[in-house]
Amino acid sequence: MSAEGMILPKVIEAARILSHEAPIAGVDILTLAAPQIAQTALPGQFVQVSVPVSGGFLRRPLGIAEVSRTDGWIRLIYRQVGRGTEALAGATAGADVSVLGPLGRGFDTALNHPLLVGGGMGLTPLLFFAAAHPNVSVLMGGRTKEEVFWEEIYRPHVRECFITTDDGSYGTQGFVTTLLPELLKGGTYDGVAVCGPPVMMERVAGIASEYGIPCEVSLEKRMACGLGACLSCAVDTKSGRRKVCKDGPVFPAGEVYYAS
Ligand code: FES
Repeated sequence: MSAEGMILPKVIEAARILSHEAPIAGVDILTLAAPQIAQTALPGQFVQVSVPVSGGFLRRPLGIAEVSRTDGWIRLIYRQVGRGTEALAGATAGADVSVLGPLGRGFDTALNHPLLVGGGMGLTPLLFFAAAHPNVSVLMGGRTKEEVFWEEIYRPHVRECFITTDDGSYGTQGFVTTLLPELLKGGTYDGVAVCGPPVMMERVAGIASEYGIPCEVSLEKRMACGLGACLSCAVDTKSGRRKVCKDGPVFPAGEVYYAS
């Protein structure tokens, strides 16, 4: 179901940490009891997690990686990249954190066989897409074998899993763009969803366009309010100024200026 045009309820939940694991150094998987958010969240949306920093609280935007509507939990997978996420990494199971969400506009999932293309932590919001769609494949890239720990997490949700590593330590040596033309040539996919570094998204969008396949990208931007009120996440697009937190984070690939 497409999230476009839908007005979704946002709530603040005091979410109990059910588990907090580190699959590799610097990366954390946080599972939170947040039944109201789990009920309405859609693939590509994010939450703002409140973390204690310097005697106050800071909200950090994190993409939703998985939800269980029946068990009422949401899962976030994040890299420690600054004071906020480093502070969050210290939170242990049993503690409560304040979570605002679900926020933003997600992916159009009304496709027969989408190809998800992700690099590094860009694989987080795509995981929710994979889990929510019955017929989806993924192309993932990382610098090394260690960085594609995602394979194990994705396998239960996808039809096929294609992997590239920069150093050739696992899968095909190269980048996701090394394999992508071959995959799209077959005509199997009717849509591409991509999330990762801007240069990767730009190249993936260009290749999808060459093959005439619709493509959506998920942008990452510094945010404050997360609600469309402060303009800190504003970007210029081909259809004017847009707020990543409210109009995105998912945009049609052709709308975006990747250098901004
Ligand atoms: Fe405030 Fe987007 S973060 S408008």
